[in-house]
Amino acid sequence: MAKAILTFADIGVSVTVPAGTRIIEVSEKVGAGIVYGCRESDCGTCLTEIVTGMENLSIPSPIELATLAEKKAKANMRLACQTLVLGDVTIKPGY
Ligand code: FES
Repeated sequence: MAKAILTFADIGVSVTVPAGTRIIEVSEKVGAGIVYGCRESDCGTCLTEIVTGMENLSIPSPIELATLAEKKAKANMRLACQTLVLGDVTIKPGY
């Protein structure tokens, strides 16, 4: 299975995970503390800045795109509860 490295820039932690793992799952595993609410792409609480590797993430669903637009998210932001890591990525959660 392909692997990917997810780095939490704010706490200086890098984790090797199977490609296809959700960002929020990795956060919970390492205690990175990304705050979340619904986990269903609805509340926008888990909004996370992607520092590098935007091209290594899953394509956002229409529901995620709607929430990102509603929250006026910058182009380099994604919902941690919905986004799959497919390759190496560095993030900086908003908390
Ligand atoms: S936790 Fe609600 S959108 Fe991610």
